[in-house]
Amino acid sequence: MARHLITSAIPYINGVKHLGNLVGSQLPADLFARYLRGRGHEVLFLCATDEHGTPAELAAAKAGKPVAEYCAEMWQVQSDLARGFRLSFDHFGRSSSPRNHALTQHFAGRLAEAGLIEERLETQMYSPADGRFLPDRYIEGTCPNCGFDSARGDQCDNCTKQLDPVDLIDPHSTISGSTDLEMRETKHLYLLQSKMKDQLQDWIDTREGWPILTTSIARKWLTDGDGLQDRGITRDLDWGIPVRRGDQDWPGMEGKVFYVWFDAPIEYIACAQEWVDAGKGDDWERWWRTDQGADDVTYTQFMGKDNVPFHTLSFPCTILGSGEPWKLVDYIKSFNYLNYDGGQFSTSRGRGVFMDQALELLPADFWRWWLLSHAPETSDSEFTWEAFQQGVNKDLADVLGNFVSRVTKFCRSKFGETVPAGGSYGPAEQALIDELTTRIRAYEGHMDAIEIRKSAAELRAIWSAGNEYLQAAAPWATFKENPDQAAAQIRLALNLIRLYAVLSAPFIPDAAARLLSAMNTLDTAWPDDVAAALAALPEGHAFSVPDNLFDKITDDQRDDWQARFAGTRS
Ligand code: MF3
Ligand code: ZN
Repeated sequence: MARHLITSAIPYINGVKHLGNLVGSQLPADLFARYLRGRGHEVLFLCATDEHGTPAELAAAKAGKPVAEYCAEMWQVQSDLARGFRLSFDHFGRSSSPRNHALTQHFAGRLAEAGLIEERLETQMYSPADGRFLPDRYIEGTCPNCGFDSARGDQCDNCTKQLDPVDLIDPHSTISGSTDLEMRETKHLYLLQSKMKDQLQDWIDTREGWPILTTSIARKWLTDGDGLQDRGITRDLDWGIPVRRGDQDWPGMEGKVFYVWFDAPIEYIACAQEWVDAGKGDDWERWWRTDQGADDVTYTQFMGKDNVPFHTLSFPCTILGSGEPWKLVDYIKSFNYLNYDGGQFSTSRGRGVFMDQALELLPADFWRWWLLSHAPETSDSEFTWEAFQQGVNKDLADVLGNFVSRVTKFCRSKFGETVPAGGSYGPAEQALIDELTTRIRAYEGHMDAIEIRKSAAELRAIWSAGNEYLQAAAPWATFKENPDQAAAQIRLALNLIRLYAVLSAPFIPDAAARLLSAMNTLDTAWPDDVAAALAALPEGHAFSVPDNLFDKITDDQRDDWQARFAGTRS
């Protein structure tokens, strides 16, 4: 039994996530966590909400709520949706937690002591009326390029030109509308990543077996242009973690907070502390401190490709720079994007299907299966309603659901609701056991390597093997000539249902639970020995016929949903 720490990139607090977000980190992380638990490993699976930064402030302002209140509410919403999708986090934390405040300030203090933080003077737009510095997004004015009258400080939404707030004609604050803006000097902290370049380069170069998608992004940042840039880690905002040096004030940094990308990954660690505080565990150090047992832990992170630089460079820089024995990531699994029906999913434009809407249409397993079996691993992939309907109807209803229904109903009509006795396994059964053994070992290999599409394809083939066996054995025909042999065939098939439940649980946990309960068993042992696994339910063991496992998606439903989700969400 090994120990596995698994984290999913922590979703921004501002709003419900769409299916593209879900399949890019949380869902595959959950698949892996469930699989490893199923194999008997000890797993700590953590996720949280990413609550700081201007997007959180803006979303709260738009909702007309104080930002702390908005975040607390949205944490609950996201937490409920995670439960709805059966994401099996051991803890779902918050980057705004007191634990993360303390730990972020601690890291800043250590980095400063190590000479890796420098104070730099900058000029920035200040609004006396608002009594604060304004981040780019809080400044609007007329675009010097196209004349659009509400261009933002960082970009014109009309002509897409990248802007600097000082370029804007008649700039004003979007908070108060005040046009009385001035440039003021302000001091910020910079993390001297350039000093860590060689150490990071060595670390990246010695990561064996990492996907090219991950290491090539890291190498590009290490070597492009002038190489790894120093990074501003503070902001003039109200909402965030106050800049302190450990538990000391930081003279000159009053009223400033850490940059959201500095504190967010530290929440991976703080979340383990929150997990202990919540009474769910009693020792976070053995997961995170290499001097306290975390050397034995395998740590895997899941994220979209846009997150890779922060996880391969910035966060390791924080960890290594602290000079303390924190656990570093062992493997990064990153994803491309899932597109929606000919375009991109978009949170800001409300385009695509969002987690709350998805669960109103269909149970979680439908989404989990389709999304995971189409995970954007080697390239971007696309959600279309046709592909979704086809994949779900074929794999879940025609293959798995149909097998379960045929076997259990046939047994009930001929032998009653107990595993039938009599007969014995012959060459056909042995051939099936051999095929399943090969396929299950392949499935394990793909799951261990977090090759998600390959795992799904193998699982589908494992389901099909059962159908093909059933079709060839034809117990409904055998029964007339040789009821004992039909009994053996059905006994095998009923055992296959339990086996399918165990193997499929990481993908479709609800259906798997229903299958186990129909088979009237708590035995979730992994099939290391397939022949033995197919004898788990003994002769005479009572079971029940489950209700239809998966209702097919009709053409009317598909058309209806396609039309309903063609526009944007308000
Ligand atoms: N909130 C970020 C996103 O959704 C991810 C943050 S991951 C962490 O892209 F490393 F910062 F925690
Ligand atoms: Zn413009």
